[in-house]
Amino acid sequence: MVTSNRSRVVVIGTGSVGSAVASAIVQQGLCNELVLINHNPDKAKGLAMDLADGLEFLGRFVTIRPGSWADCQCADVVIVTAGPKPKPGETRMQELGAAIDIVDPILRHIADSGFDGILLMVSNPVDVLSWFAWKRTGLPREQVLGSGAALDTARMKTIIGELTHLDPRLVSGYVIGEHGDSQFVPWSTVSFIGKSFAQYLEDNRSRYPGVTLAGIEESTRRRGLDIKGLRGGTSYGIAATIAGLVRTILWNERSVVSISTLVDGEYEYGERDVFLSLPVALDGNGVGDFVDLHLSGDELSRFHASAAVVREHCALIADRL
Ligand SMILES: NC(=O)c1ccc[n+]([C@@H]2O[C@H](COP(=O)([O-])OP(=O)(O)OC[C@H]3O[C@@H](n4cnc5c(N)ncnc54)[C@H](O)[C@@H]3O)[C@@H](O)[C@H]2O)c1
Repeated sequence: MVTSNRSRVVVIGTGSVGSAVASAIVQQGLCNELVLINHNPDKAKGLAMDLADGLEFLGRFVTIRPGSWADCQCADVVIVTAGPKPKPGETRMQELGAAIDIVDPILRHIADSGFDGILLMVSNPVDVLSWFAWKRTGLPREQVLGSGAALDTARMKTIIGELTHLDPRLVSGYVIGEHGDSQFVPWSTVSFIGKSFAQYLEDNRSRYPGVTLAGIEESTRRRGLDIKGLRGGTSYGIAATIAGLVRTILWNERSVVSISTLVDGEYEYGERDVFLSLPVALDGNGVGDFVDLHLSGDELSRFHASAAVVREHCALIADRL
């Protein structure tokens, strides 16, 4: 629960993603204090100075400073973005070996600090590392989440917005499952301007020749890779997504977002002890109630397949716990 009236966010890792996340938080004035931690302290110090140089022109004052693990103790939200630089062509799951060597010591420091806020994992493979973070820190399930398919959901909405020339925020629906190759869109639950998106597409067939639900889903899945191919990596989309999640938590908005959370027997999902994205309520207490999407039989099979991929990779690092 966010109890202090002086909110503190800690960002760990100040590479492309960490810097963009820190910038989005400052630009939006989401907290009172932003603390930056990097294993090379000069990088955190330099980023803090660079961000602070814009304060005169920002809407809200934020204290920005480099920090240490002790700063996690009283933090409301800690965001982990440290990891190996993703290599071109490498899948998120292929980053696991290098990522766990970086992230495990960080999680031990966070746990040792006495942190009792909300832990937001961004480093990939995010579902596997969020599960590991929950186990490693011993924090309640409500307080550990991964950004998961929140970014993929935003991408799906952007693609539909680009296709229809309408505001992406008119789309209501979610990408679920793994933040990775086995993610999928349960189209039976996606709506747009008052009807199912599938119906919208059908009603406007002549305007969208060749456009299919499967094609939109594939473009959503591939979008991160496409951006990586064009500019070497992704940072601003994930930063906007993380800032949105931080706002929901710190401002105690009761939003419903598709984030990676512990799935443990809820509704028809039929999975236990695995982190996957599903729409859940998010507010100052962290992760709340799940939405029962009433997935079709085919969608449930895809959800189980996604769970199997994540669980298989959790097994590879379970002996570290
Ligand atoms: N969840 C998502 O949607 C999403 C989106 C984009 C990137 N990512 C992930 O974010 C992570 C960072 O990506 P990036 O592009 O910022 O990479 P980057 O190389 O630019 O930054 C990595 C950061 O990790 C730090 N780091 C590296 N080794 C470390 C160590 N041994 N100890 C402590 N810190 C260490 C670096 O100093 C740097 O600050 C990756 O895991 C990437 O896959 C996730």
